[in-house]
Amino acid sequence: MTTSTTLSHVHQFVPATDPSQPPLLLLHGTGGDEHDLLPLGQAVAPRAALLSPRGRVIEGGRPRFFRRLAEGVFDEQDLIRRAHELADFVQEARDAYKLPAPIALGFSNGANIAAAVLQLRPETLAGAVLLRAMVPLNEAPEADLTGIPVLILSGALDPIVPDEKAARLAATLRRAGAVVDHRTLPTGHNLSQADLTLTKAWLDQR
Ligand code: MLT
Repeated sequence: MTTSTTLSHVHQFVPATDPSQPPLLLLHGTGGDEHDLLPLGQAVAPRAALLSPRGRVIEGGRPRFFRRLAEGVFDEQDLIRRAHELADFVQEARDAYKLPAPIALGFSNGANIAAAVLQLRPETLAGAVLLRAMVPLNEAPEADLTGIPVLILSGALDPIVPDEKAARLAATLRRAGAVVDHRTLPTGHNLSQADLTLTKAWLDQR
């Protein structure tokens, strides 16, 4: 498996062994890259295609998907621009690899941009698993997310994402019509075995 630089985002692509499975768009956290979530993707959707781009913003040498002004304080103009760039990349990759719309599986910064893509370019995603996400845009446009399935997994002990911010995200997406399953796990910001088990069970129903 090699990292591809042929499309607008450096990325990894793993073809499906069962093309009837929805592809996953893997979106890493701050300091990760296109390799990071491949093992998670393979564990939760072993036969699905995996599309894993690297974030194009660098913060102190660490890749991210958009700029922030401080921990949890986002540069919303940059976030909007990067969410559109990511949605464009997904379309490029769908054309190049002949894929249906993917389900996003994002962790932390990757979950936050996935939520922004849902709000700004809802046609890009067939669903989303948002691990440790918060509200990405304070004033997002009214998206029509009717029937789009979304799983949000938060950590009760997460020092980065207060539960209130994850609950606000769940409420916002629900108001837009998404079918949101939001659970709070007895853990922190890092992923736990329960994240993997719940994500796999949720994806198995798609
Ligand atoms: C973000 O910047 O998206 C969140 O604060 C989570 C993080 O990446 O640390």
